[in-house]
Amino acid sequence: MSTDDTSGSLDRPTEEITLTVNGESVAAEVEPRHKLSDFLRDARGLRGVRVGCEHGVCGACTVLLDGRSVKSCLTYAVQADGAEIETVEGLADDDGSLHPIQESFHEEHALQCGFCTSGFVMATKELLGENSDPDDDEIEAGLADNVCRCTGYQNIYDAVNRAAEKMDGRERDGEQLDETETDGEDR
Ligand code: FES
Ligand code: FES
Repeated sequence: MSTDDTSGSLDRPTEEITLTVNGESVAAEVEPRHKLSDFLRDARGLRGVRVGCEHGVCGACTVLLDGRSVKSCLTYAVQADGAEIETVEGLADDDGSLHPIQESFHEEHALQCGFCTSGFVMATKELLGENSDPDDDEIEAGLADNVCRCTGYQNIYDAVNRAAEKMDGRERDGEQLDETETDGEDR
């Protein structure tokens, strides 16, 4: 900890943290007051971490901390010391291939403005990590901490179902999903 505020200036105490962000080891000096959302966006350039309400209500800032979803606007960066953080930027393969959840959100037209989408995608990753075949009530409960102002939610729920099928290996040649459900209508 550094506390070299001897000049009456605005220098504030900082803490050194080390963490893993999307598989990359990171060391940083942060002020204890710094939010994880701001650290990820400003210090790491991870703008997929959206900041909406900053009150823990909308879920736009959702990231995974040691595999569990957290609202990064309600988490201090110092609380992530030693942790493994995953943001939406960490999902695609190195060759740019989208994660099945990202593919499914695209295929099911589960976004309009997209502001909420990374939070929904990360919440979905946690949900499907715990329950590979959630029913409608379980999907609704799993995404209850995330708010979308645009989609009416049905397409998001369809995307989660499609992602579950993809990740479960149930979408195979000859067993394609019903494309009539992906006609782009908002339901
Ligand atoms: S910005 Fe974090 S919950 Fe809304
Ligand atoms: S797509 Fe606009 S807030 Fe969800």
